[in-house]
Amino acid sequence: MQTLDLFSDPISGQPEPMGPRAFLLRGFALPRVDELLPAIGSVSEAAPFRHMVTPGGFTMSVALTNCGTLGWTTDRHGYRYSRTDPASGLPWPAMPEVFSALAREAADAAGFPRFEPDACLINRYLPGARMSLHQDKNERDLDAPIVSVSLGMPAIFLFGGHQRSDKAARLELHHGDIAVWGGPDRLRYHGVLPLAEVPHPVLGSQRINFTFRKAG
Ligand code: SIN
Ligand code: FE2
Repeated sequence: MQTLDLFSDPISGQPEPMGPRAFLLRGFALPRVDELLPAIGSVSEAAPFRHMVTPGGFTMSVALTNCGTLGWTTDRHGYRYSRTDPASGLPWPAMPEVFSALAREAADAAGFPRFEPDACLINRYLPGARMSLHQDKNERDLDAPIVSVSLGMPAIFLFGGHQRSDKAARLELHHGDIAVWGGPDRLRYHGVLPLAEVPHPVLGSQRINFTFRKAG
């Protein structure tokens, strides 16, 4: 059973605001971790984590895979969503039920009812991996929020403004935290600082982040 005090701000008892329609739900995924980890294992068995290349020719430090109808990919030709895994030519693994249920509940708790994601990008960070400031803007439906779940080692999340040069807030994301951003906050720049090695008792020296989107 989900109880409020598991995920709320310890002081206010509410989700922590990061913007007018952006919230941090501390510990929201904790009750589901035992189901999430084997589901991530099955997805990455069918569609292994890999380092993709950006249009600029850089190999990403983060390794990624996807589940759901659509998966986010990048190569020398650009960023896009595709129905199939370019490495195998097969459809991406289906989104596990525990994933979509968690995404829906988190979106609901942040004020975005009826969220139905069709894409889930799973990122794996090892020590030193980072994600430079970017906007999530390849999705067709920008009315739907982004729901971002963190597991494993902590990370410093940068949550900026609508210009890359805007000052970014630094938020520490821990195992089980979920960030949700939508509405006027949907296109805000965000990123992750290079990960320090602070091994996690369950996941060891890695961080897994997965983000749900309505891409199609
Ligand atoms: C992303 O923006 O795709 C990843 C964010 C994170 O790892 O917290
Ligand atoms: Fe992103």
